[in-house]
Amino acid sequence: MKLAEIQAALLADLADVRTDEALNLVRARYTGKDGLVTNLRKNVDFSTMPIEEKRSFGGAFNDLKSTTDEAIRQAAARIAASGAHDVVPFDFTLPGTDHRLGAIHPILSTQIEIEDIFRSMGFQVFAGDEAVSEFENFDALNIPGDHPARDMQDTFWLENGMVLRTHTSSMQNRALRKLGAPVRAIFPGRCFRNEALDITHENTFYQLEGLMVDRDVSVANLIAVMRDFLSQVFRREIEVRLRPGFFPFVEPGFELDFKTTLNGVRRWVELMPCGMVHPAVLRNAGIDPAEFSGFAFGLGLTRLAMLKHGVPDVRLFNKADLRFCQQFHASL
Ligand code: DAH
Repeated sequence: MKLAEIQAALLADLADVRTDEALNLVRARYTGKDGLVTNLRKNVDFSTMPIEEKRSFGGAFNDLKSTTDEAIRQAAARIAASGAHDVVPFDFTLPGTDHRLGAIHPILSTQIEIEDIFRSMGFQVFAGDEAVSEFENFDALNIPGDHPARDMQDTFWLENGMVLRTHTSSMQNRALRKLGAPVRAIFPGRCFRNEALDITHENTFYQLEGLMVDRDVSVANLIAVMRDFLSQVFRREIEVRLRPGFFPFVEPGFELDFKTTLNGVRRWVELMPCGMVHPAVLRNAGIDPAEFSGFAFGLGLTRLAMLKHGVPDVRLFNKADLRFCQQFHASL
């Protein structure tokens, strides 16, 4: 293309330009790296050009260049003055977009509620780690390598020798060592076991461990705290009872039941294992069992959320099925 043609084409293109985007395209087409004006100069071999021609080409090229720059500048000013770049097509009469709000997962809402209750009773709340040492998960809790209790918890071992905690009891040793006695704390969180899945078994579930160690703590304190706690969760007076249960890290150990009406029948429902912290567990954390005693309990948070909301299948909690989760929206 000749210089005059390029100039005419540029002016014609600019006449149609209404927006910054369109102007940018025109600018690239003419003065960009591979633009028509840019290439004109690039394609001329000055070394072989006679001096006269050099002079006339140079002058004409410089004229074209400055005309081009000026025309683009004017077009930019025209667009800016027209306010075209502010114009967003928007119809204020259209109905709004419906943004759906998320809701707190039923296990987490149960956890938050329980945390509040225990805080009001002077307990601290710690989440703890999901990957813990073998010692914290087992040995510190009086479960040595050859103890049959290990077989009850089909464990996910990590390559570095740590484990995905099989229970929140794994927090007991760390808390007792770090906080010392007296201590009152709960440890809610996720636990993992290599379970075959069915309506009551999940490989990923939530527990809430509780621990209270002080001078002269007895089974009476355990019962009182549990009764108080459950009455607040279920918003009525709750009756509890203890049955013997075995766990290596408590002595004596219990199963705690509470009385409730299920399917129209009043009956005892097994709720959580608990007991008096075993002297060996205290000793493993450097606490003298002659001076301090305490209780511990392991609440199945997932199980409690099932009871509270009447969820029939534990697998629903981890499925991320919106139809399930949306039932727990607070609705107005
Ligand atoms: N950690 C036990 C489990 O997951 C539950 C448990 C039993 C916790 C007795 C306790 C306890 O604190 O005292 O099977």
